[in-house]
Amino acid sequence: MKGVILAGGKGTRLYPLTKATNKHLLPVGREPMIFHPIRHLVGCGIDDILVVTSVDHMGDMVNCLGSGTELGCSLTYKVQDGALGIAHALALAEGFAAGGRICVFLGDNVFRDSIRPIVERFRQQAVGARVVLKSVHDPERYGVAALDEKHILEIEEKPQKPKTSFAVVGLYFYDSQVFDIIRGIKPSARGEFEITAVNNAYIERRQLEYDIYAGAWTDAGTFESLQEANKLMHETANAILS
Ligand code: DAU
Repeated sequence: MKGVILAGGKGTRLYPLTKATNKHLLPVGREPMIFHPIRHLVGCGIDDILVVTSVDHMGDMVNCLGSGTELGCSLTYKVQDGALGIAHALALAEGFAAGGRICVFLGDNVFRDSIRPIVERFRQQAVGARVVLKSVHDPERYGVAALDEKHILEIEEKPQKPKTSFAVVGLYFYDSQVFDIIRGIKPSARGEFEITAVNNAYIERRQLEYDIYAGAWTDAGTFESLQEANKLMHETANAILS
């Protein structure tokens, strides 16, 4: 399985921190944020990784990560021309995936504990996609899953009245159907190709499985959550991923 890290977008909620650099190059703990998903993926044996980022900061990203050798992986890069959404960024990975399965990591998500058990369950899964849920106090900021004991029934993106507290976090697993599915979705009201639309298409096919992440998790897209991400990384002292 190959890894895809999505590190595009404008990072406007962190302005002016992101005025001259990409959100994923900001420090979290002792390292740039982008090191975190790479270390998780490499810790799970996923060492062939595509990094998608915006054209304005691609040079800095390559300066920071190079070939990936120092982090124990092989890196490929793709430019996303505009911040047209997570699914739009993911579409750029089709050639890299080459018909295989992928683990997709949003570059601003921080997981304190290993994601290895989830990766292993997707390796055992015969077909379809897998998402990861975490109960949060502010679900209206995220994609929110309505579920029964076995299945996710529906995911709503940033609902005003969330049906549950379960956020869909930024770690997704897809089989090769994902790129055809992305070709079939339309931009949302906010003008983005939403990853939630992709996941709902898998629900319609009855091919979306899920895990609930037991460890501490946060995104790092706002000042408050960036502070929380720093706290998590200091707690673990970057030793999570062995
Ligand atoms: O953090 C989990 C949440 O991430 C999910 O619960 C939501 O369903 C999902 O839509 C997303 O929500 P956000 O509004 O927080 O996404 P954001 O725009 O901050 O983008 C998250 C990452 O995706 C960001 O670190 C970079 C990447 N990205 C985003 C966009 C819009 C791209 O690579 N390209 C893009 O065009």
